[in-house]
Amino acid sequence: MRRTGLATTALLMDRVPAFSQSVPAKALTLDPNTLAKFVDPLPIPPIVRPDRYQPSPADPGVKIPYFRQAMRPFEMKVHRDLKPTRMWGFSSGFPGPTFDVRSGQEIMVEWVNELPDKHFLPVDHNLGGAGAHQPEVRAVVHLHGGKVAPESDGYPEDWIVPGKSALYHYPNKQDAAMLWYHDHAMGINRLNIYAGLMGAYLLRDDVEDSLQLPNGKYEIPLVISDRFFTPEGQLFYPVSGNANAPWVPEVFGDAILVNGKIFPYLDVAARKHRFRVLNASNARFYHLSFANGASFTQIGTDQGLLPAPIPLKALMIAPGERVDLVIDFSSHRGEEMILKNDAFVIMQFRVSGDKVNDTSSLPAALRPVPKISEAQAVKTRLLSLDEYVNRVAEPVLMLLNGTYWHQPITETPVLNTTEIWTLINPTDDSHPIHLHLVRFQILDRRRFETSAYMGRRELKFTGEPVPPDASEAGWKDTARAEPGMVTRIIVHFEGYAGRYVWHCHILEHEDNEMMRPYEVLAKP
Ligand code: C2O
Ligand code: CU
Ligand code: CU
Repeated sequence: MRRTGLATTALLMDRVPAFSQSVPAKALTLDPNTLAKFVDPLPIPPIVRPDRYQPSPADPGVKIPYFRQAMRPFEMKVHRDLKPTRMWGFSSGFPGPTFDVRSGQEIMVEWVNELPDKHFLPVDHNLGGAGAHQPEVRAVVHLHGGKVAPESDGYPEDWIVPGKSALYHYPNKQDAAMLWYHDHAMGINRLNIYAGLMGAYLLRDDVEDSLQLPNGKYEIPLVISDRFFTPEGQLFYPVSGNANAPWVPEVFGDAILVNGKIFPYLDVAARKHRFRVLNASNARFYHLSFANGASFTQIGTDQGLLPAPIPLKALMIAPGERVDLVIDFSSHRGEEMILKNDAFVIMQFRVSGDKVNDTSSLPAALRPVPKISEAQAVKTRLLSLDEYVNRVAEPVLMLLNGTYWHQPITETPVLNTTEIWTLINPTDDSHPIHLHLVRFQILDRRRFETSAYMGRRELKFTGEPVPPDASEAGWKDTARAEPGMVTRIIVHFEGYAGRYVWHCHILEHEDNEMMRPYEVLAKP
């Protein structure tokens, strides 16, 4: 039990209104709409270079690239007219530098904690793993979407303190995709990522190369995240009214940053560009579109290329998700195009008036994504997503299947078998559910009667199963479990046996128990 007077089953009926959230007092934060728009060029994080080559842990006869990445405090300008913002980041950057690596080429990364001993964001010592007896500053790096052995996966309790480092091995034996690395420290993950501890990881392969997609300077990562800032330009992380329990259920910052800038602009040639989009926000979902209604094309999901390009006018992206887009600016010569999140401006593209010869292509067939058949599943798990409130209806806790992090492991798939995970969401929130180690497919979503479920744990469907959106119908590692719906995913557990985690990627939820260990068993 984390909070006073909390009775798990008794409070199950007390549901939480969607995204109920204590909003910070307006006076404490900067109104981003007072800032000049499109005065800063979009920064492109540098590509990391190996520091040296050293023997592979898998085969000491082979030398593999070794990278050293330090987490450090630093200051950066998030907008021309703001003073530098104190942040924490990898190699003093936010986002951190981009890894650009090839499938089949294993690498090692030494993640070094060079952070100070005191946190600058409000640690809540009531949260699991963040007790007052724990070191205040802890960090552990997870490669989101990576098929990695458990000892290199960044288990939330494998954190290191300032002055220490951890050497991780990334085999990169998986299809081309945009992965990302970020902190995963138990109970303070939301604060560490908000502080800036994340970066992109591009994995490439021959199939992708053969497609001749836009590349080089025409391929650009767009890392989207939201923050609050004080009028002095410092990060502001909202707190509850209770000084002893500052955790808030979600943070929706009013300033949207792309690659670490507020309202950036990007000069583009009038041709096709490829954008690798990541939602690295703590809790915000984005509904992306162009203000002028321009269409664009999605070519990939979290875990790589789609079977075929999908033309879109708008796109939903949840925290933790990635989308791979191709935008053709050739019919927009000389235009200024605004990318927005519904009513909110995100950034501007300034299309050159010059005609260019575009040698890149956008093939009609990308990469086959064979459907995993339901008949292949050896087990179906029913897993509920639960939110709990206190006597004054404030959310205080989120659980997966009514179970706390520290309780015994309940999800134990066997290596090289397939399972269906049925995510039952009786809450009013959409929860982006992420599994480490694996890639999966979304089977369907189906509406059910939430009151019958919450009262008697009785599952009564009220609608027909709905297939995933076209833009989700590829390989995923994070999927939205929509409110009032049962979302079914099918997962083949392969790669490694051992202990991993699955969790909601709303970081405030994850830090307050909406995360569970799971274990891939080597044998039944
Ligand atoms: Cu992106 Cu377990 O996380
Ligand atoms: Cu992950
Ligand atoms: Cu959640």
